[in-house]
Amino acid sequence: MTVKVSPEKTILVTGGAGYVGSHANKELNRKGHGTVVFDNLSRGHRDFAKWGELFVGDLSDVGALTQVFKTYPIQAVVHFAAFAYVGESFEDPQGYYINNVLNTINLLSAMRDFDVRRFIFSSSCATYGNPVTLPMTETHPQNPISPYGRTKFMVENILADYARAYGLRYVSLRYFNAAGADIDGEIGELHDPETHLIPLVLDAAAGKRDYVKIFGSDYETPDGTCIRDYAHVTDLANAHVQALEYLLSGGESDVFNLGSGRGYSVREVISTARNVTQKKIRTVESGRREGDPAVLICSSEKIKKALSWEPRFDNLEKIIGTAWNWHRKL
Ligand code: UFG
Repeated sequence: MTVKVSPEKTILVTGGAGYVGSHANKELNRKGHGTVVFDNLSRGHRDFAKWGELFVGDLSDVGALTQVFKTYPIQAVVHFAAFAYVGESFEDPQGYYINNVLNTINLLSAMRDFDVRRFIFSSSCATYGNPVTLPMTETHPQNPISPYGRTKFMVENILADYARAYGLRYVSLRYFNAAGADIDGEIGELHDPETHLIPLVLDAAAGKRDYVKIFGSDYETPDGTCIRDYAHVTDLANAHVQALEYLLSGGESDVFNLGSGRGYSVREVISTARNVTQKKIRTVESGRREGDPAVLICSSEKIKKALSWEPRFDNLEKIIGTAWNWHRKL
């Protein structure tokens, strides 16, 4: 699909200094879309917002939102800004509901004020909860089992209501596990605190951590550890660009999963990382982490058919290779 990109039009990328947001911002610019990143830099990194312009602001600040919409000819919004730790969401549900739900309503309200009607939403497999069938398709029941998952589910419902009432057109992208780093090594996965498996494993490989904890070895899976579907962050980023171009060329609101369709256990991730890095990685078995389903595997057939999305990084070795290429330089 070709969409004529007008230099007078800007895409607002909230959370564009974060992990998935910065990779999407890079791909948007590479494809000729002008962008302005809106980020409060609480969890994002200023030096990840290398493409387009950076507007430092918080989505709770209606004045800042108004200013950004007044300053730039915003055509559409790609919304990443959110808290994204399942564990933290159990400790601070209010913070999650405010940041992920209320602040999204502020954003949607500014969009209405400025008559901006195209929206790409960074949703999550966490909206499904425990799998009833595998691989999980978009019609899988949504019964989120964490406050984080519930915030994403709520926003999906809000979008459907806004679409019906106000003519908003949106695409929600439910991704499974984002992994890897930009192939040019310009940006990568860097959270503070870090809770994600692959960066922690690479920290252990780089000698910055003594060991990696395996959260639960008594799951009903072949090796007792959780199975997840890891997709490369640049493949996810490109899906956002394709979804945006789909909406800009008149596409209807829709919801798509994003994943690789293959599951890897925690132990498989660690042994792949040992192969890639050629380093020793010590592990310590520990208890299960609250809110972790045993297995999550994605079906991405719908987006492959509808938008011709095709992941380029089709195996875990390649994905961890890009992560290591970036991580080792930290
Ligand atoms: N894990 C460990 N040790 C660690 C960290 C993680 O064993 O030190 C395990 C987890 O238990 C899980 C797997 O590694 O089984 C992957 O964990 P991550 O924290 O890397 O990712 P999650 O699967 O928890 O998180 C992802 C997304 C979330 C989303 C969630 C849905 O990052 O946004 O899937 O379950 F909500």
